[in-house]
Amino acid sequence: MKGEARANVEAWLEYFSELRISSFYLDRAEPAGATAAGSSVTSTAPATATYVPTSSAAMRAKLQASAPAPVAPLPVVKSASLFEAGPRVENDTLERIREDIGDCKRCRLCQQRNKIVFGSGSARADLVFVGEGPGRDEDIQGLPFVGRAGKLLTQMIEAMGLKREDVYICNVVKCRPPENRAPEPDEMDTCSPFLYRQLAVIKPKAVVCLGAIAFQALYGAKQSISRLRGQWLEFRGIPMMATYHPAYLLRNPNAKGEVWEDLKKVMVHLGLKVPARS
Ligand code: URA
Repeated sequence: MKGEARANVEAWLEYFSELRISSFYLDRAEPAGATAAGSSVTSTAPATATYVPTSSAAMRAKLQASAPAPVAPLPVVKSASLFEAGPRVENDTLERIREDIGDCKRCRLCQQRNKIVFGSGSARADLVFVGEGPGRDEDIQGLPFVGRAGKLLTQMIEAMGLKREDVYICNVVKCRPPENRAPEPDEMDTCSPFLYRQLAVIKPKAVVCLGAIAFQALYGAKQSISRLRGQWLEFRGIPMMATYHPAYLLRNPNAKGEVWEDLKKVMVHLGLKVPARS
């Protein structure tokens, strides 16, 4: 194995070892022809020509077969949303929301954006990840989380035994804030109704807020992410968990373990098998 394929595998092994997952080595030789399973990967997914255990069809089938029954009532800590009575759009769809956004000029973020980044993934996803706003790569491609932080998010999703196209990924603001600054409150207020509509259409079983801005948009107030991460909260009846943003993890790799703990809770909630000894 050479070049990019080798680099991909090495990145995987390093990521898993940071999460203290090692048992998958036992499965490495198992699924003959497993790479074919990645053939339907969309352009939003990383190049996965190499054999990646957790994203193979065989491994996914195995995870599903051995998944525990979904756990009963969630330990919802607090009903968090200030938006319970938010307006609902009858017969809404993701396509309709995108049409309503149009060539948006509702806030100043339109001035420097290249592409609107609406969101990507499955409209029937059980799990939605919400980030802050597009960065440079996302603005160019029109897709969420495709830069460095996005590659890490993809690894996190695949560590959960899922693929990017199994989940839905979107942001609080759909246009890139200049110099990657945090979105201003008025920009969030303008754009977040579209996020709320996306969540209302998808009706996921869980939402993961990546970082403080996403959490603020769904929780309704500025909160310390380090204090409230890893707890089940709620957004309009959808179980919601906040964790650190992948960009933060790139700067603070030691926090990856905490994020993995949070994601394991999400896996349990979704009935996904949590790898042993992780
Ligand atoms: N960071 C985000 O919050 N969202 C993206 O889409 C990319 C990076």
